[in-house]
Amino acid sequence: MAIKIDFRSDTVTRPTEGMLAAMMSAKVGDDVFGEDETVHKLETKLSTMFNMEAGLFCPSGTMTNQIAIKCFTQPMDEVICDQTSHVYRYEGGGIAYHSMASVRLLNGDRGILTPELIEPEINEENIHYPNSSLVVLENTVNKGGGACYNLRQIEPIHTLCNIKGLKLHLDGARIFNALVATGDHARNYGQYFDGISICLSKGLGAPVGSVLLASKETIRKANKIRKAFGGGMRQSGFLAAAGIYALDHHVDRMAIDHQHAKALAAALSPLNYVASVMPVETNIVIFEVAAGFKAENIIHLLAEKGIACNMMGTNIRIVTHLDISSEMIDMAIENIIHLHPSGHK
Ligand SMILES: Cc1ncc(COP(=O)(O)O)c(C=O)c1O
Repeated sequence: MAIKIDFRSDTVTRPTEGMLAAMMSAKVGDDVFGEDETVHKLETKLSTMFNMEAGLFCPSGTMTNQIAIKCFTQPMDEVICDQTSHVYRYEGGGIAYHSMASVRLLNGDRGILTPELIEPEINEENIHYPNSSLVVLENTVNKGGGACYNLRQIEPIHTLCNIKGLKLHLDGARIFNALVATGDHARNYGQYFDGISICLSKGLGAPVGSVLLASKETIRKANKIRKAFGGGMRQSGFLAAAGIYALDHHVDRMAIDHQHAKALAAALSPLNYVASVMPVETNIVIFEVAAGFKAENIIHLLAEKGIACNMMGTNIRIVTHLDISSEMIDMAIENIIHLHPSGHK
């Protein structure tokens, strides 16, 4: 059956008519020459919003993260991050490949780190040890079921990094989901981070692109690394216009995605084929399949009903987004409740 309700990721959204119109009318130039005014507008809009000095538009969140890691480390350094981190698990080993750094993995609560977890893992100066030079946080945490940090949790991590001389980077692929969920303001973020990566193509609903925010000096370096990575784009203002449109129209509505995710979690919790559902804070629902049932089988049965979900490890992940309506949520819940996967229970 054709997929009607696509919960695989918030990356599957299509541009709306309004977004397409904004893209079509964008004023563009050659951005490698620094001549695309729409790209400049997007970079300035986000850097101003987050109170950072400058921004750099890149093709993907993987690229903005990896450029930041390269800017903030030297070969033989060590990056500290949670074991669930996208930068470690899902970026093709890029930290080793691009930056020749090692990684120290921590076990946060659904990917959320604390100064108490980080401090003992920072290496003292010693010939045997890699130099701990960077901490990476992810907000929201994808593999943590969309768990989010608020700024009160981030501030002491920033203080620790400052005292110990480490840089702090934020993988903010879904930072606007975190802002909507916590009520924190973007303008208060800049003071805590050396780099912030923001994806336009997740919950914001743009087709392509991420922006790296940092100091002017870091962005100068990042621009050179982007070129070497093959990420210098020409008339990319057509894509940047989609990002600007998304920032103007698609942020507040994320609260709806969060309500949808909570409704799905509430429907899933009592079912016999569900062992547990991670607490839902934003637009991601991850549930553990009960013993005796198979995640692959559940995904297959849902696909037969036109509902697409993804495996995450041995769990199932559902992501709500711009292209999921309340009617679709009702329809999905109806199917999820009446699903009868084969199992022992
Ligand atoms: C938390 C997180 N960071 C970074 C990325 C990378 O984004 P991209 O797919 O644009 O490379 C993703 C993608 O899903 C993500 O979930």
